[in-house]
Amino acid sequence: MTEGRTHFPVEPWSLTEVGLDLASLGVNESVFALANGHVGFRGTFEEGEPSVVPGTYLNGFFEERPLPYAEAGYGFPEQGQTVVNVTDGKIIRLLVGDSPLDLAYGEIIDHRRTLDLRAGVLRRVTEWRSPNGRTVRVTSTRLVSLTRRSIAAIEYQVECTDDQGDLYIALQSDLLANEDTPGGSGTDDPRAGAALKKPLVAELATAPRGRRAVLVHSTRRSKLRVAVAMDHDVDVPDAAEESIEAWGDLARFQLAARLTSGTAVRIVKYLAYGWSSRRSAPALRDQVEGGLATAKLAGWERLVREQRELLDQHWAQADVEIVGDDELQQAVRVGMFHVLQAGLRAERQPIPAKGLTGDGYDGHTFWDTETYVLPVLTYTAPGAVRDALRWRHSTLDLARERARVLGQNGAAFPWRTIRGEETSGYWPAGTAAFHINADIADAVARYTAATQDGDFDRDYGAELLIETARLWASLGHFDDGRGFRIDGVTGPDEYTAIVDNNVYTNLMAQKNLREAAAAVRRQPDVAGRLDVSPEETAHWERAAEAMVVPWDDELGVHMQSNDFTRHEEWDFAGTPAHKYPLLLHFPYFEIYRTQVVKQADLVMALHLRGDAFTLEEKIADFAYYEARTVRDSSLSAAQQAVVAAETGHLELAHDYWGEAALTDLQNLHGNSGHGLHIASLAGGWTVAVAGFGGMRDHGGALTFAPRLPPRLSRLAFRVVFQGRVLSVEVTREAARYRLVSGDPLQIAHHGAAVTVTGETTELPVPPPPRVDPVRQPHGAAPRRRSRPSSD
Ligand code: BGC
Repeated sequence: MTEGRTHFPVEPWSLTEVGLDLASLGVNESVFALANGHVGFRGTFEEGEPSVVPGTYLNGFFEERPLPYAEAGYGFPEQGQTVVNVTDGKIIRLLVGDSPLDLAYGEIIDHRRTLDLRAGVLRRVTEWRSPNGRTVRVTSTRLVSLTRRSIAAIEYQVECTDDQGDLYIALQSDLLANEDTPGGSGTDDPRAGAALKKPLVAELATAPRGRRAVLVHSTRRSKLRVAVAMDHDVDVPDAAEESIEAWGDLARFQLAARLTSGTAVRIVKYLAYGWSSRRSAPALRDQVEGGLATAKLAGWERLVREQRELLDQHWAQADVEIVGDDELQQAVRVGMFHVLQAGLRAERQPIPAKGLTGDGYDGHTFWDTETYVLPVLTYTAPGAVRDALRWRHSTLDLARERARVLGQNGAAFPWRTIRGEETSGYWPAGTAAFHINADIADAVARYTAATQDGDFDRDYGAELLIETARLWASLGHFDDGRGFRIDGVTGPDEYTAIVDNNVYTNLMAQKNLREAAAAVRRQPDVAGRLDVSPEETAHWERAAEAMVVPWDDELGVHMQSNDFTRHEEWDFAGTPAHKYPLLLHFPYFEIYRTQVVKQADLVMALHLRGDAFTLEEKIADFAYYEARTVRDSSLSAAQQAVVAAETGHLELAHDYWGEAALTDLQNLHGNSGHGLHIASLAGGWTVAVAGFGGMRDHGGALTFAPRLPPRLSRLAFRVVFQGRVLSVEVTREAARYRLVSGDPLQIAHHGAAVTVTGETTELPVPPPPRVDPVRQPHGAAPRRRSRPSSD
């Protein structure tokens, strides 16, 4: 599904679709998705059609499918996992006279939908004239509760807006399983999801009383069970007739009503979702019925109020304000909202690369979570990070088993998964991408330092650090006293596979080994339980100390991996725009043996392990890799922006910021209809805070080096750190630091130590380093947005 660029009016706190743009239907279903980390609804219309991917997802709920190989190999995963479109509770079909309301037919007089980032709801107003000339105004407000994990609700109102006398309407509020997904999965694009036809088996359907119904289904192979319950409040002006029934894949509450000019029918639909691998169908039915009863008792107004209160609190400690680029102000907040929706209530489930907004990448979780999403949440909603890392910890036995199969020690976490097993069928960019283990360790260390959550460290964090360090100790080896090498791995750049001494991997592993040694000292009981000997810790420390970091003396830059800078150059000038992404147009062997970089790799090391490089090295390395990076992954732009900002390319950083934050709002990769690029959206925050705010947390201390690009006049953000809320405000001339709450905090501003208190501390912003301009591969320069004229 490739759809066009979408256009949204620029607003600070919301995102609005004006009119119906059929060409952007799938993208808008992703962009208007609502989720809480447990339940996700794509932004389809209540009437069900037109739709591209109706999508309702429950985090962790998947079906297994075989992973066939033309040539099998030892250790290849045999089972794939694919997210399932579960029972759709969003549907409220509407019959106006004798015409179904379908925006693809009749006449749209007015239509707008607004995602309200402060209220956490999706509002919609549609005025529509049926083919036989009757007009109605449909107003709906939809929420997936951030406070009550299993609950969603929709307020739906239909008003007669003509004066042609009695209008008979029928509303059919459904639970529907095994929907067709016309435009969804099953394309040749590896970034899409696998097609699953009718994955759910009906187990129980009941409409016990009133306006309530429940459906329970299970999957055939993964043996998971899902239950969905609905109930309704109804306001009708006049005569009405109602019924409820449930059978097989459908439960339906039907309401027929008579309207006249200006009168309306209003229903509130309450939904409760649950799933389990263990609980029986009756037990799961009772669970969702119970949840539903409490939500209905609380009532619509209260659900709306709770949502707003939670978000008020969130924005008060996490907002980013941008003066000088209103479009990015909107995009960054939209991105942060979706990151929150992806992770807030995931609890002991993973955070998928698409959140719960689409079936792209089969609903899998990658390193995107630990490296892109968790840094944002660490400083804005740390509780969600604890939960996400506890999920990783809950899969530790599977990771230990995987390490054993691979002949390694410790734990080898999967490159992509839903439940914890490796499900990548392409080992050069799956099994070999061992850096995921150091990425998890990095997220653990960051969370622990930023929260000082000792219980987490004792119960989960230390063990994750130790078991991942063990993997590195066994994967790498000492090369005759010359250094500790890690050979035959794939770094973040998936266009360069199975290489020796990938700098990013080695430096992240180095940090992992050191953090594990520190965890052993902090948590002797955990170390004792895991049989860590003093010799083992000493070995980690020696390996970290001797870690190989390849350097090209002649060129004066780091080699992304051994010999990288000696490989043939890619013919960028001879590669036309329609040949991107390269992975869909060239054989991997050709891509692998040339100097073409899919996404920031060495440049990520310059950011995440910036403490291992001098500024001069960063400047030279950035320029070298910038000229070879094509950004065929949406994960790249934000990282390039952060390093561009640090190395003095402030306008370029601004351009990349736009690309990262607008990835989905402008469908820049042509596949936002498969679901949002949550890591890229997280990058909107990262560029603001780590890029122009210059925030780093090496060694657990917060440091800042803020600098604005020419077009911005002010940037302000807040971060949560060790129980405090710190406010940072940057203008062209100065930075102001202030604690909104909590005890004084030691930070650094452009290298100088500062103690921040409740009083504002103002410090001057020094000029950026003077550097030569850098260039990108032919055709790969980002669109300019650093100048006002680029609007
Ligand atoms: C990127 C990976 C990423 C995955 C999921 C791929 O295109 O190369 O780094 O983890 O997408 O977002």
